[in-house]
Amino acid sequence: MSRTTRAIAVLFSIALIAVGVAPTRAQAPATQPAGDPAKGKKVFESFTCYGCHGFTGETGARVLAESRSSNLATEAAFITFLRARANVAPPQPSTSMPNYSAQTLPDAQAKDLYAYIKTFRSHAPPADQIPVFGQILSEAQKPYKP
Ligand code: HEC
Repeated sequence: MSRTTRAIAVLFSIALIAVGVAPTRAQAPATQPAGDPAKGKKVFESFTCYGCHGFTGETGARVLAESRSSNLATEAAFITFLRARANVAPPQPSTSMPNYSAQTLPDAQAKDLYAYIKTFRSHAPPADQIPVFGQILSEAQKPYKP
């Protein structure tokens, strides 16, 4: 391989890597939440969302921390979800989450709530740092001897 050919090959590889990386960068959140997370925290507590989702959104009925659910994809989707509960509209009828109408939880508060939920982070350790998982894995890799 000549020097020029090698240089072209290196440049081509760099270009391929750049192309591969680009879509990941483009996945940054489309919109920044407009609400105030500090006010949202108070809403989360006064409406007792924590009762079913935990104080950090990491436990309970549905995990909210770093959720990829479409219900949390945008502020608008979140507000629609809050309003479209069983007793208002039947698209999601038999669920156990209460409805929060605009009379109960106005849009401004719902936006703050959304901004707060978006600050939730998962504190779960990586699977390979959970000793009991490691133990289970190493046991499972041993040859089977009945
Ligand atoms: C009585 C229990 C209960 C309370 C209180 C409650 N939730 Fe829920 N929540 C649920 C259940 C059960 C689900 C999942 C099933 C469903 O869709 O109804 C859910 C789902 C959700 C989802 C969708 C998650 C997903 O993965 O799509 C969001 C967002 C949410 N809740 C936010 C809230 C907020 C914000 C509050 C407070 C205003 C709240 N919840 C109060 C029980 C509750």
